[in-house]
Amino acid sequence: MIISVKNLVKRYGDLLALDHLSLEVNEGEIYGLLGPNGSGKTTAINCILSLLDYHKGEIEVFGKPMSPNAYDIKKNIGVIMQNVAVFEELTSYENIDYFCGLYVNDKALRRQMVEEAIEFVGLNEFRKFYPKKLSGGLLRRLNIACGIAHKPKLIILDEPTVAVDPQSRNKILEGIVELNRQGATIVYTSHYMEEVERICSKITILDKGKVIATGTKDQLKSMITLGETITVETYDITKDQIELIRNLPHMSQVEYKDNLLIIKSDKGKNNLEIILDFIKKQNINFGKIYTELPTLNDVFLEITGKELRD
Ligand SMILES: Nc1ncnc2c1ncn2[C@@H]1O[C@H](COP(=O)(O)OP(=O)(O)O)[C@@H](O)[C@H]1O
Ligand SMILES: [Mg+2]
Repeated sequence: MIISVKNLVKRYGDLLALDHLSLEVNEGEIYGLLGPNGSGKTTAINCILSLLDYHKGEIEVFGKPMSPNAYDIKKNIGVIMQNVAVFEELTSYENIDYFCGLYVNDKALRRQMVEEAIEFVGLNEFRKFYPKKLSGGLLRRLNIACGIAHKPKLIILDEPTVAVDPQSRNKILEGIVELNRQGATIVYTSHYMEEVERICSKITILDKGKVIATGTKDQLKSMITLGETITVETYDITKDQIELIRNLPHMSQVEYKDNLLIIKSDKGKNNLEIILDFIKKQNINFGKIYTELPTLNDVFLEITGKELRD
C-alpha cells in the first residue's frame, strides 16, 4: 500500500476539518479526492505529508509511519501544492533545477531530469522566463515540473487545474495520466467532478471532512437509485400530461422548465422506451430527446442532498 490513513481527525479551533478520515491508496492508482471547497482536501494532504499536526489518527506512506523528518519517504514523493510555490527570482529552468536538487545531487543526472521535466510540461520556449512573465496555465505547469522532476514514485497534486485555461488544463490532465502510465502512483484532489471522472481509477468523495463514498466511478454511480436523466424538448405538453408522466413506473422526479422536460428515472432497462411510448400515445410534439447516465454530481447530490458544483 502506498498511503494508509486511519481515523484522521484534525481541528482548527472549534472547526472539525477532518472527521475520522480513512483512505487507502494502492500502487498504480490515480486516486481522486473529490469534494467541494472547504471539504478538507488540502488539510488531508498536509496531514499526510506531515506538514500539519493532527489530533488523532495513523498515517503510513510506503508502509512506514509518516513523520516531519522522514526524508527517505519524502524523497519519493512529488508534491504539487494548490498555491503555486516557485521562486520569483529564479527562471523556469532554475526553479526546476532547485527543487530537483533537493533530492538529486548528481549534476549530470539532474540536468537530464530537469530537461525531461521541461519537455514533459511543454515549457521549452519558456525555460529562461521568470515566473512573473508566465500566464496562469504556464505557471501551473512550472509548478508541476518542480514537483515531478526527481521522478518520485508518489505524486500528489492539489487542485492543479484551478484558474487554468482549457489548453493547459488538458495538457495537465494528459500529463498526469502519462506519469501514471510511466509507473507513478497519483493522488489528485479536485472539486471538478468531470476531471476526476475522466482520469481517476478510484475516487473518494469528501464532504465536511468526512468520507461519504469510495470506489471506482462505476461503483459510486451504482450506489445511488438514479438510473438516468431523460431530457425531452417540447413546447406543447400540458400540466396533466406531466402529472401522468410522474405516475409512470420508475420515474422519480419530473420537471418542466424552459421548454425542457427533465425526467429522473430509477435504474431500469427501458425507461426511455416508457417515455417514448407515452409521448407517441399522447401525440406530444417534441424536438430533441436524449438520456444521460448519472454523474458524480448526482452521486454527491443523492448522498448529501446538495450540489457538488459551486
Ligand atoms: N489554517 C486554517 N485555520 C482555520 N481554518 C482552516 C485553516 N485551513 C483550512 N481551514 C478550514 O478547514 C476546512 C477545510 O479546508 P481545506 O482543507 O482547505 O478544504 P479544501 O482543500 O477541500 O478546500 C475549511 O472549512 C477551511 O475554512
Ligand atoms: Mg484545497
